[in-house]
Amino acid sequence: MTDFQDLYGSAPTVVADAPGRVNLIGEHTDYNGGFVLPTAIPQRTTVALTPRRDRAVHVASANTGEPPALREYLIGMENPIHDWIDYVQGITWTLRTAGQRIRGFDAWISSDVPLGSGLSSSAALEVALLRALRAAFDLELDDLALARLGQTAENDFVGAHVGIMDQMAASLADEHTALFLDTRSMAYQRVPLPADLDLIVLNSGVAHDHASGDYNTRRAECERACELLGVRQLRDLGITDLPRTDALPEPLNRRVRHIITENQRVLDAVSAMQVGDLPHLGQLFYASHASMRDDYQISVMEIDMIVELARREPDIYGARLTGGGFGGAVVMLAHKGSGYNVGQRIAQAYAATSGRTPALLVPAKP
Ligand code: GLA
Repeated sequence: MTDFQDLYGSAPTVVADAPGRVNLIGEHTDYNGGFVLPTAIPQRTTVALTPRRDRAVHVASANTGEPPALREYLIGMENPIHDWIDYVQGITWTLRTAGQRIRGFDAWISSDVPLGSGLSSSAALEVALLRALRAAFDLELDDLALARLGQTAENDFVGAHVGIMDQMAASLADEHTALFLDTRSMAYQRVPLPADLDLIVLNSGVAHDHASGDYNTRRAECERACELLGVRQLRDLGITDLPRTDALPEPLNRRVRHIITENQRVLDAVSAMQVGDLPHLGQLFYASHASMRDDYQISVMEIDMIVELARREPDIYGARLTGGGFGGAVVMLAHKGSGYNVGQRIAQAYAATSGRTPALLVPAKP
């Protein structure tokens, strides 16, 4: 396997990393000013980097085939080409636009966060690169600023109109707590994961692509609903508004119903976690999944299949699609100690029926 030393002939001066995330609950609520509850997964993206004296950026990734292709561009000449390099270009473009002084660099990226799996491989890359550049060029940026810069790169350069959840999780979450974030005020609280719980993350093997349009369409539908309802953001609505929002034309009524009920489910999930009520937490997961499947319409047959297989397992409290949707991964809650075995069993049953190649990402083999 190639590494930084093979490619550039010396050791990197900076190495930084950032985790992927799994969102426990609160899907598509972030760009509506609502609540989210992600936690970090063990899979991480690492950026090794040495600053250069000129404006040239040289970058290669361990995840784009062997031998890795070395890509180049000049700081100040960033230009989107609809390729992974856009995430790197997007970060240097955003830093420059924000008035940060950076030069070129040689970089090597490696990641075990699966791409297109709803586990935020892009935010992990953005935040890992920002951390490396912060260290290399002594940039005065706190962790919240890193998250915002990552989102700007994705919104304004890559063209994916994502919310702030993934970058916040990559920058601030850890594996032992869930990051309960109010995306309107940006206030956050770390809620400990119940000790008697195993988290399962199963990648369906069906990849999604955010920039492909479905995600941006959902966002546009929410904005249209706000116009019709005369509110600034869907966050401004609560359960008591449902009779009014149900009168919106299809599918806007459904989209709004998902956001309103999902925000409430995040609040309920935090309470359930705090008192250790795992059966209730599990019910909220299943209800969230049904809402994404029927109202927000972002699930796919394969993901629904995994959730149905989970229902048959007595050791599972709840399961739901996680991330942007249209493929990706399922997050499940299981009795402590049962996660690996039950996760493998579901993966095998799913593989046999769907013909897909799933991957059990969490928990690790005991
Ligand atoms: C993607 C986006 C996030 C969020 C989720 C859905 O991961 O990057 O901002 O909207 O989808 O909850």
